[in-house]
Amino acid sequence: MAVKLDGKKLSIKLTNDLQVETKTLKNQGIIPKLAVILVGDDPASRVYVRNKHRMAEKIGIESLDLRLAKDTSEAELLEKIALLNNDPTINGILVQLPLPDQINADRITKTISPKKDVDGFHPYNLGRLFVNDPYAIPCTPNGIMYLLREYGISVDRKNVVIVGRSKIVGRPLAALMLNQNATVTVAHSHTKNLSEITRQADILVAAVGRVNFIQAQDVKPGAIVIDVGINRNAAGKLVGDVEQTEVGQVAGYLTPVPGGVGPMTIAMLMKQTIEFAKWSKQ
Ligand code: GUN
Repeated sequence: MAVKLDGKKLSIKLTNDLQVETKTLKNQGIIPKLAVILVGDDPASRVYVRNKHRMAEKIGIESLDLRLAKDTSEAELLEKIALLNNDPTINGILVQLPLPDQINADRITKTISPKKDVDGFHPYNLGRLFVNDPYAIPCTPNGIMYLLREYGISVDRKNVVIVGRSKIVGRPLAALMLNQNATVTVAHSHTKNLSEITRQADILVAAVGRVNFIQAQDVKPGAIVIDVGINRNAAGKLVGDVEQTEVGQVAGYLTPVPGGVGPMTIAMLMKQTIEFAKWSKQ
């Protein structure tokens, strides 16, 4: 049986530490503040945004909840971001993705000040990560690295296979792993003989968004398997990209869904917001 990489437990420990940190900062007159913008009423996004506000409140981070109608124009959203960029009380700005069709997400990402880009999606921040001089690091990949580190798993000299090449997970995670001396393969929908490649992985990361995409026969015995997926199966249950039951018999370590990568992502978002607040005073 695989050892569970317990993101939920670890995120509770981390958020308790962050709570202590915000108390100390408060005594120095620093109150971290995060602005979260949600455009439209996508049900999954509403849940994610609500969880972010709840966690911020628990930790002692002020959060600004900006809700815009689903027919909001790109110009209106750009204007809102400009106001937040220029507001010295705001340390972090997050625009929840996906955005409605009339809004170009890349243009929005590029408009957020890199110094307030808590998601780390701005090309400036992705570039800095790529040259191993990071400023803001995307939260999900950062949470995965944190989880591995806390379980005493070094990526140095490991063969890492990441399935999925998104700007949010696959690409930045590849850079983080490479920066820590892993040998990294990024596989995707055009990859030939995928199963042959995934079976070479000492650390296998699934970030594709498809139920049961990784099965036991795709996993090397004893491998560390990180399941980034958040999907609903036919029964409406929340599941990842990995068929967890059989893979759990083959893998050495496995992140559950829910309770694995997800809680780490939100904890890293809070950590980044606090860091921005501290850096803004330096
Ligand atoms: N939608 C899904 N994941 C994310 C994320 O990490 N950040 C933002 N802003 N939107 C998302």
